[in-house]
Amino acid sequence: MRIALLLIGFGHVGRRFVHLVHEMTPTLEALGIAPVVVGICTRRHGTVFNEAGLDARHAAQQVAGGDAVGPASTSTSAHDAIAQLGSLNAEARIVVETTPLDVQSGQPAIGHIEMALASGAHVISANKGPVAHAWHTLAAQATAAQRQFLFEGAVMDGIPIFNLVRETMPGVTILGFRGVVNSTTNHILSAMERGEPFAPALARMQADGIAEADPSLDVDGWDTAAKVAALANVWMDARITPKDVRREGICANDATRVADAVAAGRRMKLVGRATRRTPGAKKIDASVQLEPLEISDPLGGLDGQANALEIDTDALGRVVVTQRDGGLEKTAYALFADLMTIARAVADGSDRRSGQR
Ligand SMILES: NC(=O)c1ccc[n+]([C@@H]2O[C@H](COP(=O)([O-])OP(=O)(O)OC[C@H]3O[C@@H](n4cnc5c(N)ncnc54)[C@H](OP(=O)(O)O)[C@@H]3O)[C@@H](O)[C@H]2O)c1
Repeated sequence: MRIALLLIGFGHVGRRFVHLVHEMTPTLEALGIAPVVVGICTRRHGTVFNEAGLDARHAAQQVAGGDAVGPASTSTSAHDAIAQLGSLNAEARIVVETTPLDVQSGQPAIGHIEMALASGAHVISANKGPVAHAWHTLAAQATAAQRQFLFEGAVMDGIPIFNLVRETMPGVTILGFRGVVNSTTNHILSAMERGEPFAPALARMQADGIAEADPSLDVDGWDTAAKVAALANVWMDARITPKDVRREGICANDATRVADAVAAGRRMKLVGRATRRTPGAKKIDASVQLEPLEISDPLGGLDGQANALEIDTDALGRVVVTQRDGGLEKTAYALFADLMTIARAVADGSDRRSGQR
């Protein structure tokens, strides 16, 4: 099965994704799946498109070295590249959307996804903005177009959070959740517990490509607020945006709060949560707060970049999912997992029966 891929965004995650797809060649070949990168579109490094297929790993080296995405790169916009993809003959066409988070609007990613679905392509994304701002509209569009819109990498990197609920918890109602879901702030808080200053701990996360392109999105709590909105929209029909989430961040001045918590046998954690105001009510209470947690709390024991999410359900009680080793390799894996989900759906014809499974 030939799957034509158009990558919109070719930064840390997009570049790691093309290397991972190459590393997975034996698995893909055994399943008869042949993903072919036909286009790569960036903001400042140009766009390349070749329906016969590109050397995406070479393009990744070029961009990582600061060069254009290819010698024949053009200034073609993402929308024109999606139109080109739409005219291709392939068993499946997938747009891989990994542009940076715009927490205020979810754009330009929302526009890219709308156009991709309208062109007949499936969409996979690691960008939480569209789910935090426009989940209901995009899900309805995907269903109407009989296409998939998947975003496993948007929360907790490669840990299958959305898949877990969608595929393995039929009929379960999610009453609420709370989680430590931002690696950068958890790393900084852990470093501050050891007496390290705020700024170098943040710089390490930037150097490793873990912090958002604009790191204030992490430390001001916006990234967590976007994840809370995304989870609440998908799981609790919340219809909120990150601006509806009460929000607190972390800063260098929190060193005293961190030290006081340690002295009291506790740990400060940036916790995102959502609950229904009253059981059965439509209104969702959503927040991001710096909280002192007991070390015995599943969220209180998290070190460094570790994340965890506690999901409160009716049928299963509280379910805790922990990610001990986050990182952009795992986010790239989430894109790969979404690619495989679509390949399976195309193979068994279920992609033509429903958009969101
Ligand atoms: N890094 C992580 O560990 C991680 C984890 C989970 C989720 N995510 C999410 O994954 C997404 C990508 O993250 P990243 O770390 O790969 O970001 P990044 O390194 O900043 O890369 C972003 C890419 O998007 C391109 N871009 C920006 N605006 C564009 C536009 N209008 N049209 C086409 N391309 C555009 C950039 O092009 P130029 O370089 O030419 O400007 C760049 O190639 C983000 O939404 C992030 O929140 C990241």
